[in-house]
Amino acid sequence: MKATINNSLMHYIDIGISTAMPVILIHGFPFNHKMWMMPGGQTESLAGMYHVIAYDVRGHGESEVGDGMYSIEFFADDLLGLMDHLNVQQAVVLGLSMGGYIALRAIQKKPERFKGLVLCNTRADADSNESKIKRAAAIRAIKTNGPRIFAQEMVKNLFAPLSFETKQNAVKLIESTIERTAPLALCGTELALAARVDSAPSLPAIKVPTLIMTGELDAIAPPETGKAMQEAIPNSDFFVIPQAAHLSNLENPDEFNRHVLEFLQKAG
Ligand code: MLT
Repeated sequence: MKATINNSLMHYIDIGISTAMPVILIHGFPFNHKMWMMPGGQTESLAGMYHVIAYDVRGHGESEVGDGMYSIEFFADDLLGLMDHLNVQQAVVLGLSMGGYIALRAIQKKPERFKGLVLCNTRADADSNESKIKRAAAIRAIKTNGPRIFAQEMVKNLFAPLSFETKQNAVKLIESTIERTAPLALCGTELALAARVDSAPSLPAIKVPTLIMTGELDAIAPPETGKAMQEAIPNSDFFVIPQAAHLSNLENPDEFNRHVLEFLQKAG
């Protein structure tokens, strides 16, 4: 389905039980809603009991690319705009990596729209100088070599070594998703991620139940960053997902889904 949200065409899916608790899934960078839709994945696990909404962040998937002038601020406003469009007053919001940055910024702006929060493979702090320099190098590489080589290089850091053998369909999905993302959107999102605010000081103000998960081998959002968020958010739980790196929902969907379902039962 498509809707114009904040003057930009957004693609989303809206499935499951329309009268049940809404659960909104926000993908990471640079993926799209299909990362939740693998066999045994999150839409399959949640749609029998919940109202599930998964959308493509501006510039990603089938959402409009526009001018590439992005900011996490706009992405957070797009999430809240989609909720308005769908008449969803409150939802549990589940964000992976960039999706977590978006959810954390949105809950600072409108805490009353949140029933619960699931932060996966993500972190609250802003980019370090080293990360900003890496993003500039990534933009240069995308402009010079194109998204195909960027995709081949990027997947190496996303999956645990074993996942390249046991989760080949997930690896293929993610590599082809990155490759098909518009270079303007890849570069614009890198700049938005580099410019994001530090959400760490706002964590103690989060009052809703919060589930935090990350992969045991995640080098981008390692277990210690998840543990630090759990210590700062009053009503939160933290789990490390075994046999997973940065894409724990794809690498160990059974464990990931089990924690999400248990959490939603408590949050609902
Ligand atoms: C993601 O998966 O969304 C990215 O790793 C986020 C980032 O680059 O900081």
